[in-house]
Amino acid sequence: MKNKIEKINNKLSNLFEVEKKPHKILYEAINYSISSKAKRLRPLLTLLICEAYNVNLDSSIDASIAIELIHTYSLIHDDLPCMDDDDLRRGKPSLHKKYNEWLAILTGDSILTYAFELICNIKNLSHEKKIKLISSLSKYAGKDHLIAGQVIDLMSENSNINFETLKFMHVNKTASLFICAAEFGAILCDATKSDFENLKLFAYNLGLAFQIRDDILDENSTTKDLGKKIKSDIKKNKSTALTILGLEKAKNLEKELYDLAYNHLSKLSINTQSLNDFIKILK
Ligand code: IPE
Ligand code: IPE
Ligand code: MG
Ligand code: MG
Ligand code: MG
Repeated sequence: MKNKIEKINNKLSNLFEVEKKPHKILYEAINYSISSKAKRLRPLLTLLICEAYNVNLDSSIDASIAIELIHTYSLIHDDLPCMDDDDLRRGKPSLHKKYNEWLAILTGDSILTYAFELICNIKNLSHEKKIKLISSLSKYAGKDHLIAGQVIDLMSENSNINFETLKFMHVNKTASLFICAAEFGAILCDATKSDFENLKLFAYNLGLAFQIRDDILDENSTTKDLGKKIKSDIKKNKSTALTILGLEKAKNLEKELYDLAYNHLSKLSINTQSLNDFIKILK
């Protein structure tokens, strides 16, 4: 996995060369955000699936990076004062703190848009596959998925929501990009219909568990370990797995979801050793 993360980081560090442009500052802001210490889980997931199908990683890396760009934009905007108002991200001042709000908004906008340009320009990939990737990414990053989850998240501050609404929020704001990463793997590898469904269900359960863990860590970790300020959710009176379920139930649900993720992996036609290991690094 280290080797794949290195590939992802190398590619990201060469993507936005700062030249003598009038808007050079935008490139500096993009590089500030994408060069930060991040786990790269979503692109890693796509590449692990491609490896399990013996599909060339070099032709898949740009596709996987498009998802990381969307993820990074979502975090830049998520940290803004009008959203979660967080000053620290990936161990460094959030982008709006390093620069200012307008540049943070525009940096987010630019990498969101560039993600699609990147897919359009992938070499040695059929138009049909490019359209499938663009369709998948625009769906999961869009109004009924990632954005829908963020809308519910922000609407649910200072209010009581039920478990169904919490689940809707978590699935959409967070599991969406994991499902998209799995779908990217399935598209790039021409997975069978059955593998396609099981990969998506694996990512759905994994993504949901991941957000529950994120909510738990907000109160039960350290700023140093997370690279973001702890107790941010309490400060904003957010509805989280902890406020709706309590610590014990949240932990149990997280475990159940990881078990479901393992179960879907066991139904795949490929060797799933590295995907099993991927679950282990999240747990
Ligand atoms: C943070 O995602 C936002 C959530 C969905 C919980 P990650 O924990 O994957 O963040 P990075 O990319 O490693 O910084
Ligand atoms: C982030 O959820 C989800 C998206 C940005 C889509 P959080 O707001 O819980 O993520 P952190 O805790 O700030 O990383
Ligand atoms: Mg948020
Ligand atoms: Mg946040
Ligand atoms: Mg959080």
